Order: sequence, then structure tokens, then C-alpha cells
Amino acid sequence: MSESDEPRFISHHDSHAAATYTRLLLSKKTPNSSDQKKMRTEAQAQPNIALIKYWGKRDIERNLPAVSSLSVTLDSLWTRMSVEFSADLAADELVVNTAVSEEMLPRVSECLDLVAGSDRPRAMVTSECNFPIAAGLASSASAFAALVVAASEAAGIERDELSLARLAGAASGSAARSLFGGFVELQANEENIDVSTIADADTWPLTVVIAITAPGAKPVGSGEAMNRSAKSSPFYSSWVQQQAADLATAREAVLSKDFGKLATVSEHNCLKMHSVMWASRPPIVYWNSATLACMEAVRQLQNDGHAVFFTIDAGPQLKAVCLPDETDLVRSTLDACSGVERTMVSGLGAGARLLEGK
Ligand code: DP6
Repeated sequence: MSESDEPRFISHHDSHAAATYTRLLLSKKTPNSSDQKKMRTEAQAQPNIALIKYWGKRDIERNLPAVSSLSVTLDSLWTRMSVEFSADLAADELVVNTAVSEEMLPRVSECLDLVAGSDRPRAMVTSECNFPIAAGLASSASAFAALVVAASEAAGIERDELSLARLAGAASGSAARSLFGGFVELQANEENIDVSTIADADTWPLTVVIAITAPGAKPVGSGEAMNRSAKSSPFYSSWVQQQAADLATAREAVLSKDFGKLATVSEHNCLKMHSVMWASRPPIVYWNSATLACMEAVRQLQNDGHAVFFTIDAGPQLKAVCLPDETDLVRSTLDACSGVERTMVSGLGAGARLLEGK
């Protein structure tokens, strides 16, 4: 892979925009139209799918994860966020896929405060997403990753990817990983997280086939659910304790491109996370009968010698990870499962980035 192909964050630090922003903070004057134009920025991020899962928080206040995780960043599913700070606005506004969204607004405002300071001008935030939201497809991961990139730029603050990842992670733990492309490792340290790409998307081009079994919003959000697990699941402490070993195995598998090894540890880690959820009080069960039918179909493909494995997050959708030449078979197999509404296919892609010329 040439250096120019590498996933990268395009930073356009604009000293004029920074000066304008500082002036606004100091004077709270209405910016003129050219100032406003410079402060609107747009960024794109793709969701990521964890193979070694994040489930549990070390520090709820700072949203620090209790366990490290490993994910793949997708390429064909995306969220685009645009941010415009304006002294003319009395309050932040959020539009998601052309509809005003009150529900997500508090989390978005909190994230903007972290990025630009709580004395920032209010912001107009618009979001566009090409896949179902809040259904266990990591829409909050791509949304907050894109938001921190767009908002930092709009505020005229230059930050590296790790700083942006930490800001995104404070809003939603999994979002920290979408700042990076390919295979991404998140280390949950005592004081903060460290996030990096351990292998680029094109070093090992896997495919992810997503089976949508129910497109609606999930009954319990992942943050609330993992806090319930930490409080009440008898399996939670052993889950946390075993995570480092699973992560090491998955890292070795990625670096040596050992599909069988990655498949075994990923499925095991996913099923352990769901066991922790099932044993919580009250129990947390995200699967439906179609999720189980898809698991069974993947198992059958494996028995027939195909390179595919499944993973499932906080929702009923099943994600099948396979080698690219298995894609058509995996997709048609999942399409044929009872209860599957549709399937989506994605390769692996780059981390969050600014969209130029927006
Ligand atoms: C099952 O990142 O949504 O998808 O930090 O509370 O926003 P918050 O949680 P979130 O949890 C993701 C959980 C998961 C596993 C994973 O992506 O690692």
C-alpha cells in the first residue's frame, strides 16, 4: 500500500477561522456571513464492528471502558455530520436525516462542549446516515466520530487522531475506534484510552455481510445495558478478567492473517458478552429468532469448509465476517434465512475525515 493510499485525517487548520472563533467567544458578537461560512464544516465516518467487544465501563462519568477492544472499520456504511457555530443561535439544533431530533441533542451538545468548550457559540448540526440508526449497527460510533472531526475543525482547533478519538470515546465508547481505519485496537488504560490501527484495511481485505433482522430502535441502549451487566451479572468480573487474553489472540490472528484463529476467538468473545447480558437482572436479550437462524446458517457454512464467522452487538442484526471470495455465498445464505429483511455488504475502510469543499 502506498503512503498516499493510507487512511488519514485531513486537517485544514485555518488561523483565520481560529481567530474568528476566539473573537466570538470573547465578544459573543454576531459573525458576519463570511465568518459563518468559514465555520461550517462537514466530516464523514463509518461505523466499526467489534470482534473483541467493549462491554462495561471503568468510569461512568468519563465514559472510560472497563475492557480493551478490537474492531474493523467499514467502508460502505457512513454518517456525515456538518457543524456550524453561530452566535445567532439561542440553542443547539440537531437535524438527523432531514428530521429535527430532540432525543440525541443532549449527547451532541455535551460532545460539542468537550470539543469546543462550554462557552462556545451554539451550533447547527446536521447528520445524514445511509443505514438504520440505533439498531445495533454502531450508528452512534460513526456519528460521534464524524461529529468530533467536524466540530474541532469548525472551532478552529487542530487535534491529532488520538485526541479526537478520546473526545469521541467520551461521547460513545465505540466511537473512538471509528477515528481509525482497518483493524483497530483500543486499549483501556487506567487514566485514558489509546487507540490505533494495527493493520490497514487493504492489508487483509475482509468482507462484512450484515443481516438486518429488525430495523427498529433497540429496547435498551448499550450504555444503560452494560451498566446493568456490571451491577448485576454474575459473569461480569470473569468477562473483564479474560478480555486481555482474547485481545492478544485476536491481535496475533490479524497480524498473521489467520482467519480460523480470528473466527474462533471472535465468536467466543461475542457469545461471552451476550452470556453476560443474558445473566443480568433484568436480563438483556437482543436476539430474535432470525438472529438465531443466521447463526445456525453461518455454522452450517463453516461445517462445509467456508471461511466465515459471525458477531452480534447490542441489537438483533448478525454480522458475518468472511474472506472476499465467500461474499456472494454468505450473502445469499443469509438472505434465505427466515426473518431476514435485507442484507448489506461492506469491505473495510478508512477512519473519520473531513469532507473537503463542503
Ligand atoms: C456491543 O459504544 O454504544 O457494540 O459508550 O455507552 O455509548 P457507550 O456504548 P457503545 O457500546 C458498544 C457496545 C457493543 C460492543 C462494541 O462495539 O465494542
